[in-house]
Amino acid sequence: MKDPKILTKYKYSVGNAFTKSLTKYNSEEFYKPITEYLIVKDSKQMPKRIRSSIFLEIINGLALNENDYLKFACAIEFLHEFTLVHDDIQDKDEIRRGNLSLWKKFGTEKSIMMGNIIKSISDTITSEDNINIESITSKKVIETFNEVCINIIEGQYLDILYECKLNLSLEKYTNMISKKTGALMSMSFYLPAILSNKTTHQIQLLKRLGNIFGILFQISDDILGIWGEPENTGKSNFSDIRNNKKTYPIILVNKKLSAEDKSKLKKITNEKSIDELHNLLDLYNIKKTIKRDCEKYISISKDIISQIDLNTNSKENLDELFAYVMERVK
Ligand code: IPE
Ligand code: MG
Ligand code: MG
Repeated sequence: MKDPKILTKYKYSVGNAFTKSLTKYNSEEFYKPITEYLIVKDSKQMPKRIRSSIFLEIINGLALNENDYLKFACAIEFLHEFTLVHDDIQDKDEIRRGNLSLWKKFGTEKSIMMGNIIKSISDTITSEDNINIESITSKKVIETFNEVCINIIEGQYLDILYECKLNLSLEKYTNMISKKTGALMSMSFYLPAILSNKTTHQIQLLKRLGNIFGILFQISDDILGIWGEPENTGKSNFSDIRNNKKTYPIILVNKKLSAEDKSKLKKITNEKSIDELHNLLDLYNIKKTIKRDCEKYISISKDIISQIDLNTNSKENLDELFAYVMERVK
């Protein structure tokens, strides 16, 4: 499947602005490893910049000037990068974007600090003076970033807490992913509306739309965590199982497993047999169930998109993005 327009339109401008914002941090010993990690050179493993691209698409759709808001696109990316650095420590993942993860390369102690620095770079950008923005709006932006960060961390905490839960309800799962992934994804949708002083109703519609996108994105991440090709995803396809993560396919299959198959799943986990896992999930038609559930979310998204005040072109681009997310391979 071809990449949707939103994912090709802004990737380079965000990438360049992101790299440029790192140039002022140039101490050899301290910032060099961080900068080298953040600036990916391998064209096959380039970050998707999905959150910042959505943000800029909506900025355009609201008839704002994209260049005036590029710095917030960077702040979103830095916040996201911070969460990935800590996430790889928490998930004990050794590979990210086809390369060694930061903790694997520099050790846990240093990479915790490196993650914190990346978050501070995001904060520095959001708290800079803005000539084009009223101070009340600037304050709201800072509050929003903080609120989102707190939600992400709560979601990440729940994600780890649930590793040792046997049966997790879909409700708890949805709440957890709405926080760990949905919070930042959602902000990428509604921050432009805050910046252009839209009505609370419009902000809420975009927030809901972004949350649905975050849920779909995490479900597709869960799918790639089992059926994905490490060559495409740049990540391991056994990490979630090894960590006993309560991902969408696992929650669905757990609800259906016979006692005999429950012990089979345990054995698969212990033996790290990915083929056996695929067979078991196929037996219970899990992929089909996921597809059916996601179609419901996509249909809600279409309804919300029809209600938001955005130009027609941006609405079409968002529809295309929603149609793509469940088909993505990386
Ligand atoms: C990542 O969740 C969520 C955040 C980093 C906040 P995952 O742990 O499921 O993501 P990947 O698969 O490692 O990228
Ligand atoms: Mg992870
Ligand atoms: Mg994780």
